[in-house]
Amino acid sequence: MTSASKVPLITLNDGTKIPQLGFGVYQIERNETYKYVSKALDVGYSHIDTAQSYANEKEVGKAVRDYNKYVFVTTKYFNPNASEHGYENAKAYFRKSFKTLGLDHIDLYLIHFPVIKNEVYVDAWKAFVELQKTEKLRSIGVSNFTTTYLKKIIDETGVTPSVNQVECHPYLQQNELRKFHEEHGIVTESWSPLGRGDVLDDKILKQIGKKHNKTAAQVVLRWHIQIGNVTFPKSVNTERIEENFDIFDFSLSEEEMESIKKLDKNERNGPDPAEFQFPDDFLEKRQQESQADQ
Ligand code: A2P
Repeated sequence: MTSASKVPLITLNDGTKIPQLGFGVYQIERNETYKYVSKALDVGYSHIDTAQSYANEKEVGKAVRDYNKYVFVTTKYFNPNASEHGYENAKAYFRKSFKTLGLDHIDLYLIHFPVIKNEVYVDAWKAFVELQKTEKLRSIGVSNFTTTYLKKIIDETGVTPSVNQVECHPYLQQNELRKFHEEHGIVTESWSPLGRGDVLDDKILKQIGKKHNKTAAQVVLRWHIQIGNVTFPKSVNTERIEENFDIFDFSLSEEEMESIKKLDKNERNGPDPAEFQFPDDFLEKRQQESQADQ
């Protein structure tokens, strides 16, 4: 078992400390979530990133409760239906996630995706600002926000999100957005840190890994740490869960960081929030599909 203390903590703009490496549970099946979250906690991860839309909050909550030690837990508000999304709806969804997780508080709550019709994401952010004043929620942030949406919520409320969770990996380094974050004291969280596995065949990353006796995945995760991102690789493979945590006994040289910097191709796997909106009935359809699967 590796010690959790190896994971650096980053202080958010509200003073909360967040472990820089966590375990992501996107696309982990509900019936497998307890097993893999428990495994990750045993390995030493102390930060779990889930979301209401992943449909596995209940199992995350149970694994965290059974672990019996403090674990930093993030979840997210997702309702793409613009006629519902907003102040009251965000509060109602928070109450739901809070109950489903069954923890005494939530560490970080994020707006999962900006719903731009009628600028309802701004109303949702106003609810987040209120929610943070309760004992149930420590920190608030956003996900998939562009600088335009970030500026809007900051201007409207005077409250800067503590994090913006965006797709980020060596093929999509988000330099401009990360510069904006830095200037505003927002921590960049990277989702899909391994580029859905696509970057792992990269020759340069493999070469760097060879020098350190590490895999390309470990090099990529170490790169995230060294550029100051918070990240949480997902894996349903126990060896890879261990491998992804074993990145604190080496560091990448300046030269290696420079060669990774050159790999950027602005290549996305997920939707571009500057252009894309989920259809209003997305959630409804997904719920129907997941019920049909059971
Ligand atoms: P698996 O769950 O079978 O391990 P991302 O976090 O960028 O979205 O990437 C997730 C993908 O990368 C998953 O398909 C996961 O598969 C795979 N993955 C996670 N860790 C590793 C690793 N250390 N080596 C190779 N693939 C990995």
